[in-house]
Amino acid sequence: MGGSSVIEQLRREKDLRQRLETLSDEELLNLAYDWKSWARPTQLAPTWDWATWLVLAGRGFGKTRIGAEQVRQWIKDGYNRVNFIAATADDLRDIMVEGESGILAVCPPDERPTYRVSKRRLEWPNGAISLLFTAAEPERLRGKQHEALWADEIAAWQYAQDAWDQAMFGLRLGRNPRTIATTTPKPTKLIRELIKDPTVAVTKGTTYENKTNLAPTFYSKIIKKYENTRLGRQELNAEVLDDNPGALWKMADIEETRITHDEFKKLELSRIVVAIDPAVTSNEESDETGIIVAGQDFGDNTHYYILEDASGIYTPDGWASKAVLLYHKWEADRIVGEVNNGGDMVETTIRHKDPNVSYKSVHASRGKAVRAEPVSALYEQHRVHHVGTLGTLEDQLINWNPKTDDDSPDRLDADVWALTELAGEWEGWEGLLKHYRGVATAAVEDTKKPEPVPKADGVRPAPESVEAKVPKPLRAYNEMLAKLTPIDACSKCGKPLGSNVSTDGFNSWHPECDKPSWATAD
Ligand SMILES: Nc1ncnc2c1ncn2[C@@H]1O[C@H](COP(=O)(O)OP(=O)(O)O)[C@@H](O)[C@H]1O
Ligand SMILES: [Mg+2]
Repeated sequence: MGGSSVIEQLRREKDLRQRLETLSDEELLNLAYDWKSWARPTQLAPTWDWATWLVLAGRGFGKTRIGAEQVRQWIKDGYNRVNFIAATADDLRDIMVEGESGILAVCPPDERPTYRVSKRRLEWPNGAISLLFTAAEPERLRGKQHEALWADEIAAWQYAQDAWDQAMFGLRLGRNPRTIATTTPKPTKLIRELIKDPTVAVTKGTTYENKTNLAPTFYSKIIKKYENTRLGRQELNAEVLDDNPGALWKMADIEETRITHDEFKKLELSRIVVAIDPAVTSNEESDETGIIVAGQDFGDNTHYYILEDASGIYTPDGWASKAVLLYHKWEADRIVGEVNNGGDMVETTIRHKDPNVSYKSVHASRGKAVRAEPVSALYEQHRVHHVGTLGTLEDQLINWNPKTDDDSPDRLDADVWALTELAGEWEGWEGLLKHYRGVATAAVEDTKKPEPVPKADGVRPAPESVEAKVPKPLRAYNEMLAKLTPIDACSKCGKPLGSNVSTDGFNSWHPECDKPSWATAD
């Protein structure tokens, strides 16, 4: 913060204090609810005629407060139908409506709406209505009309694109339909497109800016968790991150294969597993337990689907109940649990909830990167589909760098276990090797093409480096081959190789096996 804005802030506070001295009780109450007096300049709506106001800011910046205050203003301005969309039903109630910065908290008693829980709506004293929706049920938005909308935490919406599209389609009542979207960003297609859209006003801000209004424990907890991490740039500074060059997953591979709510409903799955990577301890500070539900479809060229991410902070009793619940909800074929330090504890805890579930323990005998790589390769082949947006899992996938981050995050681990179980360790990796072999062979064939002919002006284009021509597939193939199948057998006779070998980069053989049979026969 520059020196001049500190002075500006202090001057505002001094002015306020002087004004407070002179006020009556009623005037004090009015002031308490006068957002324009409290808002920092970046929290006030841009004054041009935007269709959508996108507030992209760090956790605790005051995004929800801005949204609620905007709704309150719209109602005062005479809008009759200002609807809400939250990520989930819990968020709708606990944050947007009843939260500390939600609509009931920001409205003075005479403006405050009545919350009709069962009707999923707010009824305002002046007769206006707010319908309450969640992005988890985008079909409920179908055919609904809005004059104005408040959408909170759109980066965390599961069916973000579906819900957003439905909402925009219904935004056609009144003369000046408007939307406010308040969110911590993620590099999703929806967020990127909104930022580029010239009808969208974008406001940005950081967690640090609202420090004075945040509970010290909340503030220090999120700062401790995120400061100086890559994800902190997103969660605290609201940067829309580009791909992490060292990560195994790329956002584009996740975006391109993402399926919509309608596509999801048509899925026919042949096998479903619930994978669980339990946290060792359970208290407020402890790690999350990764719980991922994944399925595969029928057919030779199997595709895989991440159906649900139920990860969170759980007690052992809590994660066992959740896993068993999901097993039945999805009619899963198996629960797969990672056994790390807990020994048989995972199986015992789960069996205690339901002795009849099909259960398999998996052991992390290979390094994390070695386990994660083939799974990330499945994503790279566009054979893994996320059902809607699974924001926190995706954060972990696209940010984790196996070379620099020792601990892999829990949701990522559970995702890897689920897909490893489905792809079948051997069948799946074999398939991947085949795939890479095909791409790599094509790439090598390409390097054999003749050098480019000089152009008419006599300038010969610089020859491409072999590195550039033999791209990632070949390297990935070789790396995987080195890790998975020891190259110790002759590709021609199958017998062990000695120290004298011939190789083309893919296969190795005894030099004598290359000779025509009559040359070696005696
Ligand atoms: N300008 C402000 N003046 C006073 N309190 C504020 C201001 N902006 C935000 N707050 C308060 O800060 C807290 C966090 O705001 P909230 O909107 O919940 O953050 P976010 O949604 O960005 O995580 C809430 O109690 C909110 O009322
Ligand atoms: Mg909020």
